[in-house]
Amino acid sequence: MKNVASVVISCVLLAASGSVLAGDAEAGKAKAASCAGCHGANGVSSNPMWPNLAGQQSGYLAKQMKAFRDGTRTDPMMSPMAKPLTDADIDNIAAYYSGL
Ligand code: HEC
Repeated sequence: MKNVASVVISCVLLAASGSVLAGDAEAGKAKAASCAGCHGANGVSSNPMWPNLAGQQSGYLAKQMKAFRDGTRTDPMMSPMAKPLTDADIDNIAAYYSGL
């Protein structure tokens, strides 16, 4: 009985921590609609000035979006795009692009 309970508890903890770390890619996809104009529909950009995001590490993507939002990295096109994003948006978008 004790074992069953601890397995159930660790599964719940695993699922909860997984979703926090990984973000929600489906929600990220919806949020990323406005990003496709520059970064491409599948995260692969058609313009040499705009970086590809598909397949990039989610931790790196999240760090860059926060840097643009918080002003430690600036770009005339990208900074205003990052301004309205919440931490949850950023984690979800990072999960979406890193999974492409
Ligand atoms: C108007 C064009 C444009 C739009 C729209 C846009 N971006 Fe960007 N993005 C850029 C440019 C240009 C850069 C590179 C800036 C630089 O050179 O520092 C960039 C850089 C980035 C980077 C860093 C990539 C790297 O390799 O360091 C991320 C992450 C990113 N954008 C995410 C987004 C997200 C998420 C959205 C939508 C909310 C978005 N962008 C919308 C133009 C755009």
